[in-house]
Amino acid sequence: MPRGRLNTVEGLAGAGKTTLVAGLAEALGATALREPGGVAVAERIRDLVKGSDCDPRAEALLFAAARAQLVAEALTPRLNAGETVLLDRFVDSSLAYQGGGRGLGVEAVREINVFGTGGLTPDRTLYLRIDPEAGLDRVGGRGGADRFEDLALLRRVAATYDWLAETEPDRFVVLDAAQPPERVLAAALQALG
Ligand code: TYD
Repeated sequence: MPRGRLNTVEGLAGAGKTTLVAGLAEALGATALREPGGVAVAERIRDLVKGSDCDPRAEALLFAAARAQLVAEALTPRLNAGETVLLDRFVDSSLAYQGGGRGLGVEAVREINVFGTGGLTPDRTLYLRIDPEAGLDRVGGRGGADRFEDLALLRRVAATYDWLAETEPDRFVVLDAAQPPERVLAAALQALG
């Protein structure tokens, strides 16, 4: 059985990842999952990590633990069955937020994630690029920023995403998140086509 494709969507808060993933799932008839979460154990870790002011290393390990469960319980079986899976955030979120944003270093965070995922790498990563200020403006209506929605943090996260996209141009496709959602979806479909 050929391995199915794993496509991930990355970007800052307010980039429109959730809307894009929903549009892609419908257009492609693909399973969509989100991180952190996607399966019961990982959803519990999501509540823990979003609600607690934990140390950056603990935070990185919790995201990696949630991811390990998602890989084992949901991703590997689906990919082995030949399914296409869409994932709202994956390892690159940890590289950008914990590695760059929290200052742990991309390579240290990559290592714990290679352990957690067994080295699973997306076939294609759509990076919805938006300026941190514009992203925060868009999520202002969510009713109170969480501890990941801080401008100084998001500037470091954005710089790390930009760097990741430059270093892996074959995997990353950079999409301008300032476009209307239907144009973003069309560009994404073309990139996955
Ligand atoms: P969520 O409500 O899903 O935000 P978003 O809509 O922006 O995806 O919250 C997830 C938050 O967790 C988000 O701010 C980014 C952060 N995060 C990390 O810091 N590292 C990670 O590895 C992942 C998956 C998420």
